[in-house]
Amino acid sequence: MTAPIDPTTTSAWAELSAHQASFTPDLRGWFASDATRVERFSLPLADLHVDLSKNLVTDEILSSLVKLAEETGVADRYAAMLAGEHINTTEDRAVLHTALRRPAGMEPALEVDGQDVDGDVQSVLSAIDAFADRVRSGEWKGVTGKAVTHIVNIGIGGSDLGPVMVYEALEPYANAGIEARFVSNIDPTDMGQKVKGLDPETTLFIVASKTFTTLETLTNARLARDWLWDSLAEAGVSVATDAEKDDAVAHHFVAVSTALDKVAAFGIDPANAFGFWDWVGGRYSVDSAIGLSLAISLGPDTFRELLAGFHAVDRHVAETPLEKNVPVLMGLLNVWYVNFLGAQSHAVLPYAQQLHRFAAYLQQLTMESNGKSVMWDGSPVTTETGEIFWGEPGTNGQHAFYQLIHQGTKLIPADFIAVVNPAYPLEDGGQDVHALFLANYLAQTKALAFGKTAEEVEAEGTTGALVAARTFAGNKPTTSIFAPSLTPSVLGQLIALYEHITFTQSVVWGINAFDQWGVELGKKLALEIAPAIEGDDAALSAQDASTQALIAFYRANRA
Ligand code: F6P
Repeated sequence: MTAPIDPTTTSAWAELSAHQASFTPDLRGWFASDATRVERFSLPLADLHVDLSKNLVTDEILSSLVKLAEETGVADRYAAMLAGEHINTTEDRAVLHTALRRPAGMEPALEVDGQDVDGDVQSVLSAIDAFADRVRSGEWKGVTGKAVTHIVNIGIGGSDLGPVMVYEALEPYANAGIEARFVSNIDPTDMGQKVKGLDPETTLFIVASKTFTTLETLTNARLARDWLWDSLAEAGVSVATDAEKDDAVAHHFVAVSTALDKVAAFGIDPANAFGFWDWVGGRYSVDSAIGLSLAISLGPDTFRELLAGFHAVDRHVAETPLEKNVPVLMGLLNVWYVNFLGAQSHAVLPYAQQLHRFAAYLQQLTMESNGKSVMWDGSPVTTETGEIFWGEPGTNGQHAFYQLIHQGTKLIPADFIAVVNPAYPLEDGGQDVHALFLANYLAQTKALAFGKTAEEVEAEGTTGALVAARTFAGNKPTTSIFAPSLTPSVLGQLIALYEHITFTQSVVWGINAFDQWGVELGKKLALEIAPAIEGDDAALSAQDASTQALIAFYRANRA
C-alpha cells in the first residue's frame, strides 16, 4: 500500500501557512489593479465555462496549492485509480466508476484483477439499452398484457439520489410517456404516496441495491410486492396461487445489484436483473445499471450522452496540467478554505430549477466520501477534512439563507451554476424571464465579491446606525459555472466535476474517499432497537436511558 503523505509536512503547506498569516482578501483591489485576472482565472471544462476569479486567492496562493497537489501525489493517485489499483484500502477494492463511461473500443483496453472491465461494462450497457427499448416500445408487457406507463425505482443513498437528481434534471428529455417515481425512505409514507394513483397492471418496479441487503430497500421492495398483489386482486386479476404471484412479480419487478444471487432469492427472475461490480461505490453509481430508470424514462441515447459527459471530464482530469485542471483547482480551493481560512461548509447554488436535487446528491457524494478522521492507512488525519455541502436552487435560496452568506460571520464558499438557455423559455409581457433569472445569478456573485462600502451607502443618503446595517463587507468567495444548456452531456460533466473535486480533496488529506464505515453503526443499532419498539422488553432494557424514554413515549402515544 502506498502510504498517504501527511499534507502538513509538505513545503507547500508551509508556504500556504505563510500566505495565510499575511492574508488580506481584497477582491475589489485585485480586480481594479489586474486587468487579466478574470481571463487568467477562467477555464474551460468540456462545455462548461468556469470562472474562478472571485475566489479569495492570488496567483501565489494558487501556485502553492498546485504544489500541494504535486507533493501529496494527486496525479499519481488518479492514475492509480484509473488503472484499477485497490485504492479503496479498507475494502481492498479497485475504484473504477470512471470505467463505466469509457467509450466502447477505447484503447488500451482495461483489464483489472483478471476482469475484462470494458467488455463487462459494454455488455451490461447493451442489456440496459435492449431492456429500455422493450419497455419504451411497449413490447415488455405487464401480467395482463398492458404496456408500462410508470416505473418506480426502489433504492436509497446512491441507489436513489443519482437517479432522482438526473431524472429531475433531464425531465425535458422524457419522451416515451413513461413517468418515473422514486421510493427511498423506510417511512411507509414514502411508499404510500408514490404508489398512489398507479395502475398495477402498467407499473414496473426496479429494485436498485448494490448489496441487496439494505433494510430500507428490501422492506420497501416487499411493500411494493404486497401492493402489486393486493391491487391486482382488487382489479380482478387472479393472484391467488404461488404460481400466479410469481408470474406477477416476474412481469412487474426487475432489479439492479451486484448480488444477483440475492435478487433471485427475492423472487426476481435473474434474466431481469442488471449487474454491476464491487468497484463501483454507491455514490458513484448513477452511471452504472443503477441508472436503469433513466435509460427507460429518458431513453438509452440520453443515458449514453450523460455517460459521454462524464467521460469528457475524466479525460480533462487525466490530460490537463494541474494548474489548468478545473476539478483539481476547485478541490484545492476547497482545501484552502477548509484548512487555512476556517470554512466549515460549502454552498452549491444552481440557478436552474431542474437541478433542484443537485445539492442533495452532492451531499452524499462529498460527505460520505470525505467525512473521515483517519487516513487510508488507518493513522489519524492531521488536518480538518470534509466540509458540509448544502444548497437550494436560486432564487429560492436568495429569499431564505443568502442573508447569512452576505452579512453573517461565517465564511461560506459558494458555487453558482447556471445555463444560458432554459428548457422552458417563457416571457412575461415581452420580458425574457430566464434573462431576469440570470441577472440574479450574476448579481449575487457580484454583491458577494465586491460588497458595498459605508461610503457608498452614505452616498445614497443613508445615515446613522443604518449605515453599518446596510454595508456589505464583500470578499465572499464564489465560483461561477456557466453552460450553454442543461444537456445530458452537461449534466454528466457537472457530476464528474464534483466527483473529481471530492477525490482531489481526499488525496490531499490522505483519506480513502470510497468507504463509508460511519454509516454502519446506525444500521446495526436500528436492527437491535426495532424489537424494543415492537414490545420486546428484554431488548428495551438493553437500551440506554434516553432511548428507553423515547420508546416509552412511542408506546404511550401509538394509535
Ligand atoms: O449509506 C450507506 C450506503 O451504503 C451508501 O453508500 C449506498 O449508496 C446506500 O447505502 C445504499 O446501498 P445499497 O445500494 O447496497 O442498497
